[in-house]
Amino acid sequence: MIRKFTNWCVVAVTVMLTAASFDVYSQGETLFKNKCSTCHQIFKDGTGPKLYNVREKWASEGAKEGSIYAWVNNWQKAAATDPYAEQVSKIKPTSMNQFPDLTKEDIDAIFNYVDAQQDPATKVAEGPGGSTDVTVEQESGNTWLWIVAGLIFVTIILTLGGVRRQLSQAVAEKEGGNVNDYPSYGAEVRQWMWKNKIYVGITGLVVTLALLIMGIQALGNINVMEAYQPSQPIDFPHSVHAGINGIDCKYCHNSADKSRTAGIPTVNVCMNCHKQISGNTPEQEAKIKKIYEAAGWDGSEYTGKTKPLVWNKVHVLPDHVYFSHQQHVVVGGVDCKQCHGDMTKQQQTARIVPVEELNKIEGNIPLTKPTLTMGWCIECHSEKGITDGPLSDKKSGYYDEIHRRLMNNDRTLYDKYLKDGKVTVRELGGWECAKCHY
Ligand code: HEC
Ligand code: HEC
Ligand code: HEC
Ligand code: HEC
Ligand code: HEC
Ligand code: HEC
Repeated sequence: MIRKFTNWCVVAVTVMLTAASFDVYSQGETLFKNKCSTCHQIFKDGTGPKLYNVREKWASEGAKEGSIYAWVNNWQKAAATDPYAEQVSKIKPTSMNQFPDLTKEDIDAIFNYVDAQQDPATKVAEGPGGSTDVTVEQESGNTWLWIVAGLIFVTIILTLGGVRRQLSQAVAEKEGGNVNDYPSYGAEVRQWMWKNKIYVGITGLVVTLALLIMGIQALGNINVMEAYQPSQPIDFPHSVHAGINGIDCKYCHNSADKSRTAGIPTVNVCMNCHKQISGNTPEQEAKIKKIYEAAGWDGSEYTGKTKPLVWNKVHVLPDHVYFSHQQHVVVGGVDCKQCHGDMTKQQQTARIVPVEELNKIEGNIPLTKPTLTMGWCIECHSEKGITDGPLSDKKSGYYDEIHRRLMNNDRTLYDKYLKDGKVTVRELGGWECAKCHY
């Protein structure tokens, strides 16, 4: 009777723990923390205004229906079509990033998460001694309470099991039986599991299902990075420069073949041409005027009053990842468009091109994992041939030493590599964790 009760308790706690961990990974919270919390707090104005009940605020103050979603996707577009949004856009001199990749569901998930938080001000009113600077982290503390409680519960059950085992052992010893006859802890656990198939089965099923769903959710969150296109200080079109005017990528990204980074041009590089080119239409003139302001150019001479041009970085890898442009562009012979898409056709500012679009570009090898994720790097390393024949075919000479070593010492391995007609990046170690991670 007591045993049955304990078993059901274990099932219940596991289910509760699983439910709690779902809460930790809720879509809205993850999105808010990853994308919005750098500028927005929930109950306090910061770089951006507080976000609590902001949907209600927009609705009650006369915003057009749905314009708040358009705002998050692209605030400039929203401000152009809705007078209320235009008013909001003047709140702060700093402007908000664009999030064109967020769906209406994603944005609602963010706001639902935000609105579900409890206002610390009312908390303080309820009890004396409350502190006013309650942060977002502490607000989700409930979940952790559940997890800790669960862990304590499991520990108690395991300890009780151990005590019972020791008692039984002591009894067996007293009665003159052989102590070693008593099953080991592992065997006892197996026995227990067999006896309680149903409970173990249900628990296992719930946990497996939950892990599966969480895994899929996690993948979904990585995906959100694709198509990322932050706003930029100048609406710079690659199509006009690298496309129509055929300027070489390396004229502006001049370290792509020399170092890890490709580099972003300084305003002096722009001025090489724009001292002469001030634009043909009022629209172009307005954009190019921003270059002059940055360079401190008054149309005939430099005034010395410069204003830094701060481009927002589009492609960003975490600090623990090592990536080198030189290795890919020069040694690997990979074209810019395999990873960045056809920039000569990009009419707006740069963005992370989703892998489905990259796959449509002629000459690219098709990949399946979202651009810039680890899966994407790994997949290319396993598909991409360094050469279509022996390594000595590569004229750079970079692989000559490896070629010689393989020919002399590992001939069978080399033959195995060449079976599909190419040596892939993976076969030369492109899947080793340490190659990409510090
Ligand atoms: C780089 C900073 C920054 C980031 C990141 C950011 N915002 Fe903003 N946000 C602002 C600023 C600044 C404003 C005020 C409007 C203005 O002056 O442009 C604003 C305004 C808003 C407003 C209108 C607020 C009001 O009181 O009417 C909403 C809604 C909003 N942001 C949602 C979001 C969401 C959702 C995210 C994350 C997906 C986000 N923001 C990310 C800076 C940011
Ligand atoms: C006239 C100068 C110029 C030329 C030529 C040029 N770019 Fe750019 N590129 C820029 C500027 C300025 C930015 C920053 C603005 C932006 O992100 O749109 C940029 C941004 C980028 C980015 C995004 C950088 C980031 O932050 O992640 C990529 C990728 C890129 N360029 C690739 C290319 C490729 C490929 C070519 C050749 C087909 C090329 N560029 C030619 C000036 C240039
Ligand atoms: C194998 C894929 C790949 C190729 C090929 C490639 N890039 Fe990149 N590029 C990246 C990645 C990944 C980043 C982000 C790097 C980081 O955050 O450390 C990046 C970042 C950039 C940036 C932002 C500034 C910087 O240096 O981080 C520019 C500009 C850029 N690339 C231009 C180019 C140009 C121009 C070429 C061709 C000459 C090129 N890339 C070829 C993957 C690639
Ligand atoms: C090698 C010469 C060259 C360099 C360097 C150059 N540009 Fe340009 N840019 C041009 C030409 C040519 C045009 C097209 C003007 C026209 O259509 O009459 C242009 C047009 C533009 C326009 C207007 C585009 C439009 O039609 O909306 C902007 C904005 C611009 N450039 C920004 C920049 C910035 C920012 C830099 C520096 C990162 C830069 N350019 C560097 C040659 C250059
Ligand atoms: C389009 C295919 C492609 C993609 C995508 C790609 N790589 Fe590579 N990578 C290569 C090629 C080709 C080489 C050159 C092989 C060599 O260095 O021997 C290479 C080499 C490397 C090397 C050097 C390996 C060695 O053996 O010394 C590192 C590190 C690396 N890549 C990291 C990355 C990272 C990190 C990413 C993702 C952000 C990435 N790569 C994405 C094709 C790719
Ligand atoms: C070809 C390059 C490459 C290789 C090889 C590689 N990784 Fe990664 N890894 C990456 C990149 C790029 C990211 C960042 C992906 C992102 O931001 O979504 C990453 C992210 C990760 C993360 C997630 C960390 C985080 O930011 O959330 C872990 C964990 C990880 N790698 C472990 C490994 C292990 C273990 C191996 C060896 C089996 C390995 N990696 C091999 C490129 C690589």
